[in-house]
Amino acid sequence: MYKLLRSFLFFFDPEKVHYFSMNALRIICKIPFLKKMLTARFSMSNTQLEKDFLGIHFKNPVGLGAGFDKNACYLTELEALGFGAVEIGTVTPRPQDGNDKPRLFRLPKDKALINRMGFNNDGVEVIAGRLKKWKEQNGGSSIVNSESSIRKSPGSEPNSTFNIQHSKLIIGGNIGKNKVTPNEDAWKDYGICFKALHPYVDYFVVNVSSPNTPGLRALQEKESLRKILTNLQGINASMGNGESSIVNSESSMVEPGDLKSHSSLPVHSARQKPILLKIAPDLTQEQIDDVIALALEIKLDGLVATNTTISREGLLTDKQSVEQMGAGGLSGLPVQQRSTEIVQYIYQKTNGQIPIIASGGIFTGADAKEKLAAGASLVQVWTGFIYEGPAIVKNICSYLAK
Ligand SMILES: Cc1cc2nc3c(=O)[nH]c(=O)nc-3n(C[C@H](O)[C@H](O)[C@H](O)COP(=O)(O)O)c2cc1C
Repeated sequence: MYKLLRSFLFFFDPEKVHYFSMNALRIICKIPFLKKMLTARFSMSNTQLEKDFLGIHFKNPVGLGAGFDKNACYLTELEALGFGAVEIGTVTPRPQDGNDKPRLFRLPKDKALINRMGFNNDGVEVIAGRLKKWKEQNGGSSIVNSESSIRKSPGSEPNSTFNIQHSKLIIGGNIGKNKVTPNEDAWKDYGICFKALHPYVDYFVVNVSSPNTPGLRALQEKESLRKILTNLQGINASMGNGESSIVNSESSMVEPGDLKSHSSLPVHSARQKPILLKIAPDLTQEQIDDVIALALEIKLDGLVATNTTISREGLLTDKQSVEQMGAGGLSGLPVQQRSTEIVQYIYQKTNGQIPIIASGGIFTGADAKEKLAAGASLVQVWTGFIYEGPAIVKNICSYLAK
């Protein structure tokens, strides 16, 4: 059924189809019985799939990668499609339009996309306001060990939790810098976004790995990273009650693919938020080693591996068409193997000490299982969602629950 719809949708501009589909879904979700039907069709509830990770309770390990809902506009709709988590952003301090259109291209022969969106987003102030409203209406967030599993949304009135259907959707905040901000000042941009989103997201991802903001990936160099990340950790500590601590510090290797627990879980106070770093699949081994060393040294909460690649190797789409599409990050099947290799490398090199969220080329349950077996604790989909359709989360979850 979706294959048929997809071949129709693929006649039209990818970015227009994106907003058209999500707005159509929004209309459906406004009608209670249709929303119920959608949720029943696409969501799956199974305690076997639940996962405590970084002190957060995820109802399943399948999240939506950053860049799909950049402005936090479609959380209700994405929750109805069964996602355990949605990573909003990349959010920058000031709003920006991103690159000129067209900037998103399909490569169906490769089950891939190329994008050079360039962090188009409404800016952190507007997005924080939107999240605040959503949280007030939906509750949400699942901090493990909090006094009550039904947490009152920040900023809500004392009796506003009455009659709220509390959402179990976990929201990640993916943060970046504005295009006009020079790299020396990038740390300030990350700090601004971190502070503004802090009350409304469950975890943070620092994005220094997008190929579409000139010079951004240079921030993956160790000392630039140290400055950005330690600044955020400082802000985090000042907003919470002290440092995060590692549970079961003598724990050794974590079983790959263990859906139930992560034995080196950093536990945060209800007000501190885990900070992860998202890395590019194009890093050299030396650069990955630097990231690992820094992550261990500063006790970073985790890594997201990986973002899109600038490589165009091994594509089935003809060279001329690929060249015409121009610059941008390639995602989907072509990045699958490299992403898995990086997850596995980090996991093995650190004996599972660094929690990992895997992103890159996940289409099926088998793909997700491969990433979990390589050492990831959670997975994210993006390009797979476009090619597999709205049943992707349920399909992956059903496979993992087998
Ligand atoms: C159109 C598009 C926009 C994206 N925007 C972002 C972004 O703003 N921030 C980010 O960290 N990753 C972004 N990504 C990368 C995805 O989150 C994901 O890491 C990457 O596409 C690899 O996963 P996939 O193969 O499942 O697509 C974007 C990807 C696509 C296709």
